[in-house]
Amino acid sequence: MTDLVDAPLPAPEPEPPARRGEFNAVRIGQMEVWPPVVLAPMAGVTNAPFRTLCRRYGAGLYVNQMITARALVEGHRKSLVLAAFAPDESPRSIQLYGTDPYSIGEAARLLVDGLVDGIPVDHIDMNFGCPMKKVTRHGGGAALPWKREHYRKIVRAAVKNAGDVPVTVKFRIGIDDDAITFIDAGKIAEDEGVQAVALHARTANQLYSGQADWRRITELKDAITSIPVFGNGDIWEADDALRMMRTTGCDGVTVGRGCLGRPWLFGDLAEVFEGRPVPPRPDLGQVLDGMVEHAGLLCEWMGEDHGIRDFRKHTGWYLKGFPAGGAMRARLNRVGSLAEMRELIAVLDRDIPFPEGGMRMVRGHSGSPKDVHLPAGWLDTRDDEVAIPKGAEQLVSGG
Ligand SMILES: Cc1cc2nc3c(=O)[nH]c(=O)nc-3n(C[C@H](O)[C@H](O)[C@H](O)COP(=O)(O)O)c2cc1C
Repeated sequence: MTDLVDAPLPAPEPEPPARRGEFNAVRIGQMEVWPPVVLAPMAGVTNAPFRTLCRRYGAGLYVNQMITARALVEGHRKSLVLAAFAPDESPRSIQLYGTDPYSIGEAARLLVDGLVDGIPVDHIDMNFGCPMKKVTRHGGGAALPWKREHYRKIVRAAVKNAGDVPVTVKFRIGIDDDAITFIDAGKIAEDEGVQAVALHARTANQLYSGQADWRRITELKDAITSIPVFGNGDIWEADDALRMMRTTGCDGVTVGRGCLGRPWLFGDLAEVFEGRPVPPRPDLGQVLDGMVEHAGLLCEWMGEDHGIRDFRKHTGWYLKGFPAGGAMRARLNRVGSLAEMRELIAVLDRDIPFPEGGMRMVRGHSGSPKDVHLPAGWLDTRDDEVAIPKGAEQLVSGG
């Protein structure tokens, strides 16, 4: 029996394979990104073990978790731990979040000087898409690009202090349908020397609900002429990436929730961009082996106690759509060691095939639209000086 919440999203018509020369590598500073695929930064997920796993399947650019500029500048240990890279990781790519030009500039400098682990980063992405109430109500996250001049100063500070290291910017369509910001955000970024932009094609008001509006990616691509545009939102299968690039003309895709519990999606993407078919789906046995490997990497990285706790959220994503049963899921949600996890999953039938529509079963955030909380009078003006309080920069997750 599959779980009741596992209904897949509708599947569009299959896409024809990529033709030779149809798509190109994306240049971001010195980096050539091929296939034109970026692992979206996801707080609490895209740490070094997860990136290692995804990189093994495919290629492209794998962005570290987001860290806040102020915490980095103030030397909070937690940020440095979050920002750690695997010793052999290349390129070293990380996302910064901040609300004031000074701390963003300083943080960028620290990153390119190699503060995190002695090795300079190769790429800095900036997050202007966070929809969380505790951030937007102070004017941070997705609320910030509304204040165009302030946004410009932040971007400028990062680009200036990053020197030769490319800076990219990720944002949403806007706050809601009445406060659209993405075209301005993209043009300002282009003006200020940003090397690529990525659009999560939802408003903050939509959170992760409904379908991403890919038409907005086309609009951005039409407006931005000198730097690459990455489209983001609802790439669940490799075909979706081809479809997004063909329908919007974007230069590359950014993949978030589609790879949760399905890290092999990056392998599928690598194949289709080379014009080859998607490999066969893994059966339950192969998925379980992947789970053990992922959990093992996390335990090596952060110690078994912390690692296995961190892995608990992944178990539901890996097993989504498989007839594992509620009791098994509940026990995996409380699993306390690698050995216990192995013992628990040993009773599952390894020959069960991958569930029909299993790639399109929503994982990670979903939910329904919510009013965006903003500071009083925020929407009345766009180009005024703003002083965004510290509260907008507490460690946040989401984008
Ligand atoms: C668990 C989770 C954490 C996220 N954290 C961040 C983040 O730290 N920075 C960011 O820019 N976006 C973040 N996002 C948003 C994703 O990067 C991406 O924009 C969004 O999920 C839409 O893409 P998708 O439809 O492919 O998932 C997060 C998303 C999820 C599901």
